Amino acid sequence: MTASLHVLERGEGPAVVWIHGFPLSSQLFAQQLSIAGVRHIVPDLPGFGETPHRPWETLEEATSFVVAELNARDISRAVFAGVSMGGYLVLTIARLHPELLDGVILIDTRETADTAEARQRRLEQVAKIERDGAGFLVDDMLPKMFGRATNATNDELVRSTRSMMASTSTAGAISALKAMANRGDASDVLRRLAVPLLLINGSEDVITPPAEAERMRALVPHADLTLIEGAGHLANLERPGETNEAIASFLKALNERNS
Ligand code: MLT
Repeated sequence: MTASLHVLERGEGPAVVWIHGFPLSSQLFAQQLSIAGVRHIVPDLPGFGETPHRPWETLEEATSFVVAELNARDISRAVFAGVSMGGYLVLTIARLHPELLDGVILIDTRETADTAEARQRRLEQVAKIERDGAGFLVDDMLPKMFGRATNATNDELVRSTRSMMASTSTAGAISALKAMANRGDASDVLRRLAVPLLLINGSEDVITPPAEAERMRALVPHADLTLIEGAGHLANLERPGETNEAIASFLKALNERNS
């Protein structure tokens, strides 16, 4: 697999790879790029952001695109951070390439597979996109992205997130929905996880509620969990100050451990 993704790169130091959720892009991490002392690697998955679409229908395929980017940069270990679908991908990387992991950050995500109903809903969404385009996804999902106060008062953030979501290509949305519907349970990956894990969840997340993060913490005795009060599904975008504080202190402890 040759490198093929648009990748935003910033900073110097140990690598942190940030993997966006659905239907979003590398812009999701704009506020995390200020975290100092690390090399930020932020890809757009195929069909998202600035990466043209190419076929993928499983998280394993998506993983191979990301790993090719790391190989092209001679990066042999990194901290992998994922939001929601990005978290599903990070757990897939942990399953397939545990040797690449320095640490893991899972934000507003879960380790379980889709229920039969969730899977059915995704396949219906695929059929609808094929018929009508992906526009309806933005209207369906946008109100669930943030906490109540943000939805009521932060028009600018809601507007810029709408435009990030609207930039997703039809083919990219279909690929991601199929990949998410196809994914298996990753509880065993968490149980085996041998590197530090930071879990972050918005207290008002209605897509992946805090109970999901609590369940993941129960599988990994050494994990830390930070709940961001009042944040919704995109806690890192909505409350960058608190999120970055938790991440910076996790990365500092990790650096001390590795040096
Ligand atoms: C995401 O934010 O990536 C999606 O909501 C995840 C999902 O649909 O399971």
